[in-house]
Amino acid sequence: MADGTEQLAPGLPRKAKILVADDDRFYIQIFSDLIDGLGYESISAANGAEALEKVRAFRPDILIIDVVMPGMNGFEVTRRLKDDPSTTHIPIIIVTSLSDRGSKLKGLHSGADELLSKPVDEAEFRARIGNLLKVKKYEDYLLEHGKKLEGEVVDKTVQLERAFEKIRHGYVETVYRLTLAAEYRDKETGGHIKRISLYSQVLASHMGLPAQAVEAIFFGSPMHDVGKIGIPDSVLLKEGSHTPEEFEIMKTHSTIGANILRDPDSGILRTAREIALTHHERWDGKGYPMGLKRDEIPISGRIVHLVDIYDALRSKRPYKEAFDHETACGIIDGQKERFDPEVFKGFLTLSEEFRRLFDENRHEELDFRKTILL
Ligand SMILES: [Fe+2]
Repeated sequence: MADGTEQLAPGLPRKAKILVADDDRFYIQIFSDLIDGLGYESISAANGAEALEKVRAFRPDILIIDVVMPGMNGFEVTRRLKDDPSTTHIPIIIVTSLSDRGSKLKGLHSGADELLSKPVDEAEFRARIGNLLKVKKYEDYLLEHGKKLEGEVVDKTVQLERAFEKIRHGYVETVYRLTLAAEYRDKETGGHIKRISLYSQVLASHMGLPAQAVEAIFFGSPMHDVGKIGIPDSVLLKEGSHTPEEFEIMKTHSTIGANILRDPDSGILRTAREIALTHHERWDGKGYPMGLKRDEIPISGRIVHLVDIYDALRSKRPYKEAFDHETACGIIDGQKERFDPEVFKGFLTLSEEFRRLFDENRHEELDFRKTILL
């Protein structure tokens, strides 16, 4: 204890700093001598305002403060420092010549850690300073340890986020490749796949679906026709209309897609499977493959059912010309019994957004990674 450094935390061999605030120079001198004698560094302030200023500037290990001072008294300074999270841990000794019980209670209520009476007993002073420095040392250690832990948590969180992003990118890449494999044989373009994703996203979001469900629909909807990979070329690539038998074969792309995506592990793949299986189901029960009706059809399937039809109407096909936005909307309106009324209502509200998404992504090639890898 001779040089005053051993009371502080290991690794921080510095002298403890003790600030004395008293308007009486005589007491300042007495305290400074005592503090110097213990090997600590003393700083002084002549009033309450200066005490506050020096606490913030010098960050003392202890503040010793007189009660009665011109301007702000010792109780008020104590209360302010204890109310401030950045100074609340600094131990405060209130020194007073007032010996009545009321003043002592007021000192404790203001947040002081110790009380000392004038004239100061040297042995008592030493003991109280020693105790408070020990407490301060542990509090400093805890604060430092807390900050270190906080930093480690932030680091780990960043690492986890990076790992998650890698997995997400890997997933999107896989979706892209799987979809590419299916579309490779089809006449439809990558633009169709991208647009389905975008329309479905805005519609699902507009309908108030939770963010996670919107994301699952965004990533899952590109795979709605993945089952076409299992349709023979003679049917899939046929120019002109299909015979009833060929149409029955075409219809199996829903169940083939669901089989490709069976037993999914992730929420997104579950939604992708749901969409692949149900995007040709109709609200009035006249769809396929199961003839589900109304809310027996998952919302993801109800959404993709409408947006898939809108995009097919806007696109040129071997058996039809491309329709403009108004004509496509008119055809959809004429068949509204097949759509969920809420999905249909959302489509009407977002009609201009659909027109924009189609126009902006009209000539997209099979490179929608740029969008979905964001
Ligand atoms: Fe389909």
